[in-house]
Amino acid sequence: MSERTPVSYLREGAVAFIEIDNPPVNALSAAVRQGLADAVARLADDPDARIAVLFCAGRTFIAGADISEFGKPPVPPFLPDVIAMIEASEKPVVAALHGTVLGGGLEVALGAHHRVALPGTRMGLPEVTLGLLPGAGGTQRLPRAIGLEAAIDLITSGRQIGAEEALTLGLIDALAKDTDARAAGDAAARRLLAEGRGPRRLSEADAPTVPSAGVEALRSTLARSARGQVAPLRALDTIVEGLAMPFAEGMAHERRAFMDLMQTPERAGLVHAFFAERRAAQQDDLTGVSPRRVDRIGIIGGGTMGQGIAAAALTAGLDVTLVERDDAAADKAAAGIGRMLEGAVKRGKLAADARERMLGQSFRAVASYDTLADADLVIEAVFENLEAKQEVFRTLGRVCRPGAVLATNTSYLDVNLIAEASGRPQDVIGLHFFSPANVMRLLEIVVADRTAPDVVATAFALARRMNKIGVRSGVCDGFIGNRMMLAYRTAADHMVLDGASPYEIDQAIVALGFPMGPYQVGDLAGLDIGHATRQRKAPTREPRERVPVFADRLVEAGRLGRKTGRGYYIYDDQTPQGRPDPEMAGALDGLRSELGIAPRRFAPEDIQARYMAAMVNEGAKILDEGIAARASDIDVVLLHGYGFPRWKGGPMHWADAQGLDRIAADIARFAQDDPYFWQVSPLLARLAAKGGTLADVNTGKDAT
Ligand code: CAA
Ligand code: NAI
Repeated sequence: MSERTPVSYLREGAVAFIEIDNPPVNALSAAVRQGLADAVARLADDPDARIAVLFCAGRTFIAGADISEFGKPPVPPFLPDVIAMIEASEKPVVAALHGTVLGGGLEVALGAHHRVALPGTRMGLPEVTLGLLPGAGGTQRLPRAIGLEAAIDLITSGRQIGAEEALTLGLIDALAKDTDARAAGDAAARRLLAEGRGPRRLSEADAPTVPSAGVEALRSTLARSARGQVAPLRALDTIVEGLAMPFAEGMAHERRAFMDLMQTPERAGLVHAFFAERRAAQQDDLTGVSPRRVDRIGIIGGGTMGQGIAAAALTAGLDVTLVERDDAAADKAAAGIGRMLEGAVKRGKLAADARERMLGQSFRAVASYDTLADADLVIEAVFENLEAKQEVFRTLGRVCRPGAVLATNTSYLDVNLIAEASGRPQDVIGLHFFSPANVMRLLEIVVADRTAPDVVATAFALARRMNKIGVRSGVCDGFIGNRMMLAYRTAADHMVLDGASPYEIDQAIVALGFPMGPYQVGDLAGLDIGHATRQRKAPTREPRERVPVFADRLVEAGRLGRKTGRGYYIYDDQTPQGRPDPEMAGALDGLRSELGIAPRRFAPEDIQARYMAAMVNEGAKILDEGIAARASDIDVVLLHGYGFPRWKGGPMHWADAQGLDRIAADIARFAQDDPYFWQVSPLLARLAAKGGTLADVNTGKDAT
């Protein structure tokens, strides 16, 4: 049986139609590149063809290179050569664009001689978001098409633009009214033929001149925003240097830079993150399981989380009934949600009339549960207290219709115990949103012992509808994310007890690429939260466990973080982002001598090694216990909920890249001082001993 070819050639009259059909997103696999090269050769040889239309089947024009080929040996024909063939064609080629024209897809379009797009088409060169730069002429052709400034903006940010902006910039020649790419291309081709136009090649256009002062300013702005990432700056340099050369040399220069970046750990981390996000939604046990229908949702509790969840749900087009304890609290929650949606209108993310419609027709805040009788799904977000939540679920079990999904937003509590209270545990699931819930994309989907499969499927469908990234977790204290956070926070606290300052820790962690260190995060969230958790757990505390007494002392002194103007840092008008407290060192020294600890110094690398080892070790335990099904799910949680630097791929990917033997050896060394905290995960030890990786556990290759 011959393999289906993803590129077809069909001539009608004088017009040749070159169609790419490579689902799901027409990525430029080796077969597509070969097919394109063959089609262009056929166009040249076809005596009846005078012009060609290049278009794609399915939901989009080419969405870029095939990312799954990255990191593997490149297979010819290479994309720059294929694009050069298209551009060199003596017969004009019209690219008819729809969907998302990204990366190599846009570079193919730039190689064509005329570009027409359907309304709603989005275009961009997102390579820097994958640790790369456009490697098939984008740094050369885009500036020639739309000018230097706009090209630098698009390439170094990776942002996408709509068809109208593309038309204004001159990236496309026309915006079609059709809804069919082939028809739009056909019409454009016939017009060009009638006008007798020949090929117009960007490689032959003049390069824009480069003003050196402007570039320097851009360079320093980028250096700040790119932080640990190499690709944006390298892209800027490649554009600027390449434009000073003849086109062919500029292309070779670009290719070298592209191949260099392909070898970087940043590229590997970013590509890992891309696939990890998509893999998180794949649940083998849900194949063939249909989600329950969800149009109307209820939310119990209109505090910080309830309001954010309501705003996100309304924006996703859901009908929302919010239940608070009394009318005053309901009104307050409604006002908060109104403000959030107003903020979205101000930022241009939401139309003003859409906001009015949502609040007027799809939303109500009430003080009675009866209104939830016809809800399809209810999310509880009341205080973090087991009895309070069980009471809510008892009520929900009574008032909700059979088959309604009942979800809890608890951060730490046992979802099984909450589920039992409802009297219908098969309908109950954890939906752990992150704060602010209308902004953060992570959603931990906590599957309890008796949760029905179609309830899990419903949760994933809801995540997608709300534009969240759902990650499945089993039930344990803190689920995946907060459990990991507790581990690395504890490692940091131990270092402070032993001699490090919280400021040294924060600096070392920010240097790794996190937006904030753990003590800055603590001040932001409120130090009373950790204090309350420690109080709650004190009666069952293991005697060998070391307590961060300094943290409790701050709370006892009324220093709760940003909200009181003082925590680890001081916050005031001069330093709204916080400055170190000069009294901290003395207070910590006093405490250490009270506890009989001889302080020692921690170099930034020591701090980073302990912090990361604690995180990785806990992740391995979570994986081993089956709380997370694969290492990449843990990576997604840390990337989207805890500020882990995306270009490092996530803690598990990072650990594999470092080598697990090194991390296991570090843990063994740390355990000499504190064998209670530093207990190496059996999975980590096994993998380290045999040279395996945590990623192996993704695919079930780890048979141990
Ligand atoms: N290569 C390989 N697979 C890809 C892909 C790509 N470029 N883009 C998407 N896919 C896959 C996804 O992994 C997913 O697969 P599964 O269904 O098996 O999970 C499937 O296509 C659908 O993707 P999404 O779930 O993301 O679908 P969506 O409709 O939400 O989004 C999209 C579609 C906007 C195209 C989005 O997938 C996207 O942004 N893709 C990446 C585009 C990109 O970065 N392109 C540039 C690549 S770099 C480059 O092009 C360099 C060069 O030429 C030299
Ligand atoms: P909050 O204190 O801001 O809001 C709780 C709200 O629930 C209050 O408005 C209260 O009036 C209402 N409430 C209490 N009992 C009620 C009842 N029986 N019926 C109706 N309403 C009731 O709390 P927050 O921060 O919104 O947290 C809610 C839940 O979300 C907790 O379980 C918390 O652990 C979890 N969570 C919190 C996050 C955060 O960052 N704040 C992040 C993720 C989860």
